[in-house]
Amino acid sequence: MVKVAVANSDALRSDADLLVVPVFAGRDLGPGAAEALAALGTPHELLLEARGFEGKAGQAMVLPTFGRLPAAELLLVGLGERDQLDAEALRRAAAVALRAAGRARRAVTTLAQALPDDRAGAVQAVSEGAHLGAYRFDKYKAATREDSARDNGRLAELTVSMPDGAGGLDTAATRGEIRARATNLARDLSNEPASSLHPEDLAEAARRLVDKGVTVTVKDERALAAEGFGGIIGVGQGASNPPRLVELRYEPEGASARVVLVGKGITFDSGGLSLKPSEGMEAMKTDMSGAAAIVGVMSALADLGVRVAVTGYLATAENMPSGSATRPGDVLTMRNGKTVEVLNTDAEGRLVMADALAYGAESQPDAMVDVATLTGACMVALGMKYTGLMSNDDALAAELLDAATAAGEPTWRLPLPREYHKQVESEVADLKNVGTRWGGALNAGLFLEEFVAERPWAHLDIAGPARADETDAHTPKGSTGAAVRTLLSWLERRGER
Ligand code: BES
Ligand code: MN
Ligand code: ZN
Repeated sequence: MVKVAVANSDALRSDADLLVVPVFAGRDLGPGAAEALAALGTPHELLLEARGFEGKAGQAMVLPTFGRLPAAELLLVGLGERDQLDAEALRRAAAVALRAAGRARRAVTTLAQALPDDRAGAVQAVSEGAHLGAYRFDKYKAATREDSARDNGRLAELTVSMPDGAGGLDTAATRGEIRARATNLARDLSNEPASSLHPEDLAEAARRLVDKGVTVTVKDERALAAEGFGGIIGVGQGASNPPRLVELRYEPEGASARVVLVGKGITFDSGGLSLKPSEGMEAMKTDMSGAAAIVGVMSALADLGVRVAVTGYLATAENMPSGSATRPGDVLTMRNGKTVEVLNTDAEGRLVMADALAYGAESQPDAMVDVATLTGACMVALGMKYTGLMSNDDALAAELLDAATAAGEPTWRLPLPREYHKQVESEVADLKNVGTRWGGALNAGLFLEEFVAERPWAHLDIAGPARADETDAHTPKGSTGAAVRTLLSWLERRGER
């Protein structure tokens, strides 16, 4: 884990192993870059051009300093267009720099000086990006085999140079670290193979947060059956690892509002009797990414001093085919009394989410937000990087879209059209769990809406962004921890009202 500190000193005089300076698109030199290149005494325009370094976002280039600077190496990192610079560009550049740092142990950077109008925001972004970029999921790799890979990005110390005074900026760096750690916790849980992360293990992950100001209550399969959670029981009954509903409570003094968060925690989604094709099924170990995001969020609330009371629910089960599994055609009675005809056991997420939303609504919170890897259709609509947001409340939707922008997590609102409601109406029960393929993400949203008892509610479908096929700046291949930072930004802002 890299340690990020802020210093009121001149980065060019630092004797760190590596000096990191930004360059904007078009080889437009950022803070410290002209001085650093001048000190090297090379005709840098030619050098940068020869290496194809233009200052585009994602680019990085290392130059030896041959003793002409106290730092052993100079790392130029691209920041993209100068007039489009924002916190997200800094986060991404910090992560790229961290990964390009090679064998350096100590680095110093002028990156945060590139956004002088928001010094705290800039420091937070650099810290957040560095901690996100340092993430690795390598616990199952033999140390010996991985030695060379491990040398990359194993920077121990990153000093953020802010020569006009570093006072108060340490807090900003810490906040960035807290947000990144919360994201990395969600990534760890979601990357874990399903054989070592059953519903009870998600409950255990929640219990580990008690020293983070969170109280945890767990309903096991008996309590769930006795208390009418027909959706969670119905999805979990085919598995030998029983389902759970995990409640995490954060209750700060003088809270200004109370919100409920719900995460989809399908620890493995085989599809059940409506079995998925085997190709790509391994990705379904991450079908608990929504629940993992909620654990991540809850882990950070006390440290960030969020002033909203938050109750998080993990609706967790393993969706497996067996002699005891729910069959297509079965009818389940949900927590709110509504009945659901299960026409496809692979549309299981909405069943567990519905029960948790209905339960969450019973306490009449000011708002509810759920996070779920719910539909392949949302990936068809928005691709791998965009979260689909659906809501019954325009103000809440706007707040979440703003928070997502601030957090750098692309999010797009989708409608909940009344005229599609028949997609979820059954001939034999109150509802059915699948409609036609068309508008599949909306059908799922319309289904969930039946369980929120008209509370202000928003649904985040993270089926795309929960996983990445390749590493991109601060987002690693595999589980990404999607939605954690959006929710944290939203809760922080909500507490300030
Ligand atoms: N967990 C899946 C959705 C999913 C698919 C997430 C791919 C990430 C990547 C969900 O439980 C599911 O199987 N949904 C079905 C619904 C359908 C049966 C109505 C889908 O999207 O195909
Ligand atoms: Mn499924
Ligand atoms: Zn699923």
